[in-house]
Amino acid sequence: MDKKKAVELLNKAIEARDGAYAPYSNFYVGAALLCTDGEIFTGANVENASYGGAICAERVAITAAVTHGHRSFEAIAIVGAPNGQAPVDTCMPCGFCRQFMSEFCGDDFEVVLVGDGDVKIYTLGELLPHAFTASSLS
Ligand code: THU
Repeated sequence: MDKKKAVELLNKAIEARDGAYAPYSNFYVGAALLCTDGEIFTGANVENASYGGAICAERVAITAAVTHGHRSFEAIAIVGAPNGQAPVDTCMPCGFCRQFMSEFCGDDFEVVLVGDGDVKIYTLGELLPHAFTASSLS
């Protein structure tokens, strides 16, 4: 995607980050998922006293979109930083979220991040090569 569109998506992720519930890590993450039809779903991380029960911002955004009937996605923007700090450093998606993306998105799906004062775009194929997918099961 072009830089203007990427910055718009990052701004949605920055807004969404305010919704994080992260009293244990204090690390606030926001995500904005762009559907192929242009609709955008956002999410933020939600933690739990049983630490393993936490859900990442990316998976909150993806589950929101999927449960509203969406199955086709173009890109996701992700920002993260300790609460109260501007998300200026790159926040890479965790391995579990990369796998979650691969359920619905192809290798050309774009992951939009911030870093070095600029926009960084990776493809899912770069972040999760040789993914285990539904076709691996047959
Ligand atoms: N987190 C995300 O929301 N997305 C990621 O891809 C990495 C980690 C959250 C989970 C947890 O609430 C906090 O960041 C610290 O790991």
